[in-house]
Amino acid sequence: MKLIVSGSRSARKSFPSGIPLAEALAACGASVEQPCGGRGTCGKCRVRFVAEAPTPTPEEKTLLSSDALAEGWRLSCRHSLVHNATVELPEESCAAAWKDFGVAGPLSIDCPRWKTVELSLSANTSQAVAPSVEEEIRARCSADFSPQAVFSLRAYEQLAHLLGSGEVEIEALIRDSCEVVSFLRSSSLPRLGVAVDLGTTTLAAALINLLDGSVIGSLSDLNQQVRFGADVITRIAHSNRQGIGRLREVLIRQLNILITRLCRANGFTTDQLCAGAFVGNSFMLHSFFGIAPQSLGQAPYRPVWRGPVVADGAQLGLSVLERVLIFVPPILASHVGADAAAAIVATDLDQGDIPRLLIDLGTNCEVILSFNGRLFVTSAAAGPAFEGGNLSCGMRAARGAVDRVALTADQELWVHTIGDASPQGICGAGLVHLVDLLLSSGIVDESGRLLRREGLRPEVAQLPLAQRIGEAEGGETAFLVAQGPRGENVVLTATDVRQLQLVKGSIRAAVEILLQEAALTPERLEKVFITGLLGSHLKKSSLLRIGLLPAIKPGKIQMLGNAAGFGCRLALVDRTAWNRVCALPPRVRHIELADHPLYTELFARAMMFSQF
Ligand code: FES
Repeated sequence: MKLIVSGSRSARKSFPSGIPLAEALAACGASVEQPCGGRGTCGKCRVRFVAEAPTPTPEEKTLLSSDALAEGWRLSCRHSLVHNATVELPEESCAAAWKDFGVAGPLSIDCPRWKTVELSLSANTSQAVAPSVEEEIRARCSADFSPQAVFSLRAYEQLAHLLGSGEVEIEALIRDSCEVVSFLRSSSLPRLGVAVDLGTTTLAAALINLLDGSVIGSLSDLNQQVRFGADVITRIAHSNRQGIGRLREVLIRQLNILITRLCRANGFTTDQLCAGAFVGNSFMLHSFFGIAPQSLGQAPYRPVWRGPVVADGAQLGLSVLERVLIFVPPILASHVGADAAAAIVATDLDQGDIPRLLIDLGTNCEVILSFNGRLFVTSAAAGPAFEGGNLSCGMRAARGAVDRVALTADQELWVHTIGDASPQGICGAGLVHLVDLLLSSGIVDESGRLLRREGLRPEVAQLPLAQRIGEAEGGETAFLVAQGPRGENVVLTATDVRQLQLVKGSIRAAVEILLQEAALTPERLEKVFITGLLGSHLKKSSLLRIGLLPAIKPGKIQMLGNAAGFGCRLALVDRTAWNRVCALPPRVRHIELADHPLYTELFARAMMFSQF
């Protein structure tokens, strides 16, 4: 059977009859997100059959409108490929939000891990017993690397090749003064490494100049594991049923492609890569190494390992990083991974004694409190709400997503979408900003109720905003945010507001518990870092208004982007940063929220949209 994917991910491939449509799409490089793990309950995996759409299933009749069904939209998890088909993917299901790796320019490196040494090899030798080329290099570079330094096999091969072609002006690349990694003809080409952030939803890779830490280019892509579930809990459940092999295979294949694309886009080839550093949450690293993650999902919730890992790319199945060392910082706890460790180093949370807090907002939220040289860490399961999952009109932060709202001078709603495109849905930042605005306007009350028009205070009922209150399908209260290109309504429902309450309740309870464990009050916090994809898109005032953060001075809050990516880059090029990240596990005190005696009470209080 032939499957043609049209649109921005166009592809064409043949498959045996009966293959699940989601599998075939993935093989075409057009994975569709499956937040419910393919159980037919979330309605998010829709694709459009350009012609001859299959008969709708009962789930589709419930989850898709009759107009959508008539247009050919179906749920990809409900169908198999039994005849040739051409399908189209909604823009938002393919797009991944772009993840940064910090400012692109050179870093101030404390202790460089990499250096190059220029050499001019002797064409002849007068010694009776000629030394090997390696011995000659060791003798001439005794100040550049230790006598115990090893030469990689790749370095020997490159050396032989250079000598064979008569090259005597060469350049050695040395790592940590202990390994001669490669030899190249003396040139001005940068020595390259790759930093990779394995996110639950987004994979991001950056090409790094190993000598100065600058970012040469970066790429992000939707993690194709999303078809096994939007969050790590669903993916752990999948691997409990069917093993980790398939998840690993999908990840490794995508990484090989992503890194190749990254190199090509910047005019390089993958054989020019000399090192890699990878960070990710605990589940993503278990799946990266192909290690069963069961222990992460059941009490006492433990990762299989914590320490740093250094492995050859080929060992991990990364054909593009064959014979290249990969550095992976340590995992800190069951759901506080190497990405959190890298973020700690990126924000210097492991240095100094003053009280500072870091909240990484994502599918899994890590909360870290640094005080008096100690690090208190926990994780709050945010679920996919910040990625736009679980919302009636939710989508990731991609083109067409409502990400900001405000009131005009006439008290009308102003809506901004990513890319200034027609509104397609609401992303995590849009959700937070909308609820902030509706709270301030009196349309959502502090208990989280989205009020019907008849329940509004008289002065609120006069506002133009109030005219947007209506009902969604099924009769629940909904607020009309915008209309899509075909006149479809993009709404925020009472259930969506509830989703935000659950997420922010869990994060705020985590913050309160860490403060209590450290015997601190919020006022004593000197800095609060908000990191993660959402970090750079949210307003401080909104986080304070919805009560995700305790009442602190806005000036103490610093919105950062992908601190984990920046920390990964640092660990790759700076020996001090690598040593610091490796030293974190014994300094960390992990608090399991579910086991904490105050969690239930604090969570219930934190669900309210008010400070306490
Ligand atoms: Fe298909 Fe949820 S309905 S993945």
